[in-house]
Amino acid sequence: MSDTADAQEDAQGTLANLMRENRRYDPPKDMAANANVTADAYDEAAADRLAFWEKQAQRLDWDTPWETALEWESPYSKWFVGGKLNASVNCVDRHVAAGNGEKIAYHWVGEPDGDTRDITYAELKDMVCQAANAFTELGVQKGDRIAIYMPMIPETVVTMLACARLGAPHTVVFGGFSADALKSRTLDCDAHVVVTADGGYRRGAASALKPAVDEAVTGTDVRTVLVVRRTGQDVEWTDGRDVWWHDVVDRQSTDHTAEAHDAEHPLYVMYTSGTTAKPKGILHTTGGYLTQVAYTHWAVFDLKADTDIFWTAADIGWVTGHSYIVYGPLANGATSVLYEGTPDTPHKGRWWDIVEKYKVTILYTAPTTIRTFMKWGEAVPEGHDLSSLRLIGSVGEPINPEAYIWYRHFIGGDRCPVVDTWWQTETGGMMISPLPGVTAGKPGAAMKPLPGISCEVVDEAGNAVPDGGGGYLVLTEPWPGMLRGIWGDDERFRETYWSRYPGVYFAGDGAKKDEDGDLWLLGRVDDVMNVSGHRISTTEVESALVSHQKVAEAAVVGATDPTTGQGIVAFVIPRGDGEGTSGEEFAQELRNHVAKEIGPIAKPRQILVVAELPKTRSGKIMRRLLRDVAENRQLGDVTTLQDSSVMDLISAKLPSAAREE
Ligand code: PRX
Repeated sequence: MSDTADAQEDAQGTLANLMRENRRYDPPKDMAANANVTADAYDEAAADRLAFWEKQAQRLDWDTPWETALEWESPYSKWFVGGKLNASVNCVDRHVAAGNGEKIAYHWVGEPDGDTRDITYAELKDMVCQAANAFTELGVQKGDRIAIYMPMIPETVVTMLACARLGAPHTVVFGGFSADALKSRTLDCDAHVVVTADGGYRRGAASALKPAVDEAVTGTDVRTVLVVRRTGQDVEWTDGRDVWWHDVVDRQSTDHTAEAHDAEHPLYVMYTSGTTAKPKGILHTTGGYLTQVAYTHWAVFDLKADTDIFWTAADIGWVTGHSYIVYGPLANGATSVLYEGTPDTPHKGRWWDIVEKYKVTILYTAPTTIRTFMKWGEAVPEGHDLSSLRLIGSVGEPINPEAYIWYRHFIGGDRCPVVDTWWQTETGGMMISPLPGVTAGKPGAAMKPLPGISCEVVDEAGNAVPDGGGGYLVLTEPWPGMLRGIWGDDERFRETYWSRYPGVYFAGDGAKKDEDGDLWLLGRVDDVMNVSGHRISTTEVESALVSHQKVAEAAVVGATDPTTGQGIVAFVIPRGDGEGTSGEEFAQELRNHVAKEIGPIAKPRQILVVAELPKTRSGKIMRRLLRDVAENRQLGDVTTLQDSSVMDLISAKLPSAAREE
């Protein structure tokens, strides 16, 4: 075997571990002293994992206790077998019964200035009961699927909880998706009822939803479309199928006796955004899911339900919204902010207005948004009083160390710990994260599996890599919130997650363990680049680029290269006004910077300065399209892009791109 082949063989099983990051942030002393969770939780869970989860399940009210914590026939799990509970009662009724009816469940903030509404737990309970009664009148029965295509308004939460109450699994389709996306999802899970609104407010204008529903339900078995009047815009109406929410829900009784459902009764189907293939309908059930989201929401955010104002700034159409806007916070009786619109409407300080007004204490958002704020510059948050914040979190992508530092400094005032939480639609709840009162945070690391969660980083052959090594993330033990399958496609479920390494769950992400054994997520394995036989993660090179003071955001891809196999092509968005970021000199400066940060092997062959990057609607960079550009290919499917015009702008950049030969 030649040296090169050796090197390639060597590199195959692992991912190069290139970045070094030495900054550490201890938990604030008072937070550590009063933390919900201490380091003992790890030992307790390790000693008896099932007993640990059984203890967490007692956060919920059960009508019938479970008999067995877990039945596991890989890859099929059943949690809290024999137990019965109602998710909606756990999220709402029990808080009212406990005397907390006057507590605010949501500070709802509509996008138009001043359009706000505070909703107490008692009001929420009444609304959920009315909606459940209305669904029953409309013929909905336990087990029926209901599609939800709504803006971020209180009725969206109410609808989800009414579905849960009746045992009718919901499938929420993000309101920014097209009629086609709604149709394929509605058909896939065979929903006969769609709940929508005339429209919602986005970017300062009423944006219609009903026309997409009209188009989507044509030729399907949908028999009822329930429509909330939000914007008041004109809508087409199909008599006999379309019903106004205010006509049918408002006149219902606010009493509704909920049936307890089996712990394994389906709660919802969430379609993953599917950057390549047909979306997968990820199935979540009731008892285990609710246990995990309630526990993680309480533990990772160190939730003090009496005083915290919690804000997950994500859309309810994503799993983050399901688990940490709706089910987790409500199960814990928390007060949350629910914001309808975009961060830059009517101005770029909108979020900070909201934090200031409601004295938000915990903020949870995505790296893509943090990098956007970096691009807009620190002057925007600096004009606001953000001193109420005590903890800030990140989810959805690896957070680049520099974005973490920026977030910690300019948003968290250097006093708030950052919790970088790794999980997936499939996992239901958080899996790998620091604990804010325990963990000394490292910028860019998700650190350790949470108590009760087991994972490993393995090489091609499935062997655990040593500390300091990189490979593939697998989850080695079942967990309560895990997906129970892909709706209607069992074969794909087994093939996608369980076939690569027998008996363990393949997450599809690259990861490395540092010298302390802490975990760093390195992006999707499909995105890994192979340069001269070294498998290099896109995340590390992107983070090196973002650590340059003039770069706000970066995406890198591997493009075919006659010499090195693949060459690294980088797309960068400058910070602020972008002064001094054009031309070969800047490209050279960045190459040198990357070489200094991680080594010459990771130097981009080509650097393009761009204004935007192609992203899915949940903010993930679509590197597949950038690869097409870098290799001068016809663009692949762009339908899941948030803004498809971005690709024209990027492609136009290519001929003038600076290139190092
Ligand atoms: O690649 C990982 C990335 O997002 C993927 C899951 O995406 P989705 O199902 O849309 O769920 C997003 C919200 C939970 C993962 O496979 N990801 C998520 N969180 C992190 C992350 N990558 C690195 N660090 C994270 N904290």
